Amino acid sequence: MSQRLPKLVIGNWKMNGSHAANARLLRQLLDAGLRGAAVAPPFVHLGQAALQLAGSGVFLAAQDVAAEAGSGAFTGEVSARMLAETGVRYVITGHSERRQYYGETDSLVARKSLRVREAGMIPVICVGETLAQRESGNALAVVAGQLQAIMDEGGVDLLSGAVLAYEPVWAIGTGRTATPEDAQTMHHHLRATVAARNAGIAAGLCILYGGSVKADNAASLFAMPDIDGALVGGASLQANDFIAICHAAEA
Ligand code: PGA
Repeated sequence: MSQRLPKLVIGNWKMNGSHAANARLLRQLLDAGLRGAAVAPPFVHLGQAALQLAGSGVFLAAQDVAAEAGSGAFTGEVSARMLAETGVRYVITGHSERRQYYGETDSLVARKSLRVREAGMIPVICVGETLAQRESGNALAVVAGQLQAIMDEGGVDLLSGAVLAYEPVWAIGTGRTATPEDAQTMHHHLRATVAARNAGIAAGLCILYGGSVKADNAASLFAMPDIDGALVGGASLQANDFIAICHAAEA
């Protein structure tokens, strides 16, 4: 069981936005007085968002990061240090779209998450099962296996003060959400998986749920003891929806 962590909501904008649309959306979030939530624009829009969010209660997140330390000849990559310098607080690693479309492995996810920590930021490490894995009754084993592999490579300390996001692949962008009970079962299992290596780190681990979180289902998810917040995709692009989810998290 978690120590009743304050709930965290992160909006993952994915490959969406423009300077004009971002400015409008961020203005609406700031006008709503959100505190403690975060948004993850595409890399190229982080600087714009950092300027607009400076001094506010809305934090900046990035959607990905290079696995390589330092700097060097890695065309197209963005280092953790660059993100930190831009004002980023959270970095999403291992999102299922990166695993699915760009072949990211648990080992790569662990190395990216290590870079995030070394640069003084907080990794938001994503795990989740496919529909076939859920339907064959293997969801708990598959997702715990991803987490074990990440801890094997990065060490359990990688999760100290970190954020874990459980995102069932079949629930992302589909309108299908895990029931609060199924999500709670998974979150509890993931916390227990970490506790087997380090109980203190497990108790302080913030575990987000992601996958079609909307204004009308957020409260029931947040009522679960091991659900510490949400990673929100589609609904984070609509100010009113995102604000309503953030308010549900504060309740
Ligand atoms: P969704 O995406 O809320 O649109 O399902 C969640 C995510 O991919 O982080």
